[in-house]
Amino acid sequence: MYNVRNVAEGIYWLGASDRRLELFENAYPVPNGMSYNNYVIIDDKTCLVDGIDDAVTRQFMENLDHVLAGRTLDYMVVHHMEPDHCSAIPELLTKYPDMKIVASQKAIQMIDQFYHLKVDAVAVKEKDTLELGKHTLNFIAAPMVHWPEVMMSFDSYTGAFFSADAFGAFGAMSGNIFADEVDWEKDWADEARRYYANIVGKYGAQTTAVLKKASALDIRMILPLHGHLWRKDFNLLLDRYNKWASYTPEKDSVVIFYGSVYGNTANAADILAMKLAEKGLKDVRVYDVSKTTVSELVSRAFEYSKIVFASSTYNAEIFDHMHTLLTDLENHNLSNRTVGIIENGSWAPTAGKKITEILGNMKNMTVLEPLVSVKSSLDGTSLAKLEELADALTAK
Ligand code: FEO
Repeated sequence: MYNVRNVAEGIYWLGASDRRLELFENAYPVPNGMSYNNYVIIDDKTCLVDGIDDAVTRQFMENLDHVLAGRTLDYMVVHHMEPDHCSAIPELLTKYPDMKIVASQKAIQMIDQFYHLKVDAVAVKEKDTLELGKHTLNFIAAPMVHWPEVMMSFDSYTGAFFSADAFGAFGAMSGNIFADEVDWEKDWADEARRYYANIVGKYGAQTTAVLKKASALDIRMILPLHGHLWRKDFNLLLDRYNKWASYTPEKDSVVIFYGSVYGNTANAADILAMKLAEKGLKDVRVYDVSKTTVSELVSRAFEYSKIVFASSTYNAEIFDHMHTLLTDLENHNLSNRTVGIIENGSWAPTAGKKITEILGNMKNMTVLEPLVSVKSSLDGTSLAKLEELADALTAK
């Protein structure tokens, strides 16, 4: 009947997971499903902290009913007005007509935009507080992490930090909702990075600003809207977030992305990978951009210090899937990477020039020499250039 967990004095997690979802935001594959967290604070006043996605609203309403144990709901704090956390607002207002919504002014406006509701709401801004009894929520503005209306809050009684979309991850959760109850590094870190890079990655400066504000708080628990909750090992998570938000790579190695029509560009990519391994480089990765989801490729670009783009020329342009990847990386503000380029073309190879142009729009991207140009398939000349590129990629 209910799926609820007490996570701190007077604070209950009552999220739910959707394991049937194929694409989060109708864009990002979630082979392991998606979790939606929300919390209820039971004190002199009762307060729901964020809502839930449409797909799991029924379970959420049952959980909420259980936690309230006959009490009404006094407040709903809306940290983030994206519908994956707010779809239940109309139903909540029907069931709890006296419930006051507490949110930023922008979020209140969005409630009207999404649901055409003029709600009884309290607008809050940075440094405002909501007193619930022993618990007091202190609001922190977090614009563009991930939408402009986002607020976070810190409960000065328990040290719980409600971090909205920050510190989230793709993937459904089972009963072990705390990161220290799973092998997070082995099983979840990749999906946390893929989530950050794709959902929040464009807004590194804004994320860094919020991390700075958070560092001044005595945080004892991090309670995000997706993925695991944190009550220890904060440094593990904060270290990753500081890197991702500042576009600092985690791994000093090479990831090779290739777009290949007949396999010859793929062959060049594989031979380069072998050369890098022979020169002592570990954890080299190779991806076919036509096969692997762009969200995974963006995530790997955030992880690795060096990237090689190997692309066929197609319609005198970059091969389509590679073009999509490059523009996605540009849109996500990827910076500070060392790059190698391999182009292929049977009569007029121009992909390399076009790739260089896109990289020129990105910050602090160092393009290595030589640009390896393949005519249809590798020959002695292009193989020698590939060797030179391998040397450049492994140079100290
Ligand atoms: Fe989980 Fe930006 O919504």
